[in-house]
Amino acid sequence: MANISEVLISEEQLQKRVAEIGAQVTADYKGEDLLLVGILKGSVPFMADLMRKIDLNVKIDFMQVSSYGGGTRTSGVVQIVKDLDSDITGKNVLIVEDIIDSGLTLDYLKTYLSGRGAKSLKIATMLDKPSRRKVDLKPDYCGFQVDDLFIVGYGLDLDQDYRQLPYISWVK
Ligand code: IMP
Ligand code: MG
Repeated sequence: MANISEVLISEEQLQKRVAEIGAQVTADYKGEDLLLVGILKGSVPFMADLMRKIDLNVKIDFMQVSSYGGGTRTSGVVQIVKDLDSDITGKNVLIVEDIIDSGLTLDYLKTYLSGRGAKSLKIATMLDKPSRRKVDLKPDYCGFQVDDLFIVGYGLDLDQDYRQLPYISWVK
């Protein structure tokens, strides 16, 4: 197993921040319906926690993408492995992501979804690594900004391991 050395963001810190984001989303979309679109698999814990902190009429859907090229970093060439089940015409869509690194995946997804007539299209990410950005992309909601470390836990994996950790750690 890898050297998972320390807790970077504790379970308590994560839960507190998710509740704050949920309250902000509730206020921002007051009186509206919302479709949360989780990006598999990393968004699963954040999605599950966030949806329960939003006091609106919420529906959920999922997409799965994979970036060609393998390795731990994205190549920017994105393949849609699973598309949305639902029609997003006229809907408020909030993409729920685990982390934004280069920004290439979400940049592609935003473009991919923007032609489908959504009423609004925004991004919520638990983590953001702004120092790694290759495209001009800013999340509308962000849990925490992190340094250029390889992060695991709370949905984030190293070769599919460590997703279940309730806190955020990093690999040395
Ligand atoms: P981007 O296209 O470079 O923004 O990459 C986004 C995706 O790369 C995320 O959804 C993650 O799946 C993965 N990723 C980026 N940084 C990390 C990390 O530090 N740990 C685990 N996965 C990461
Ligand atoms: Mg991901």
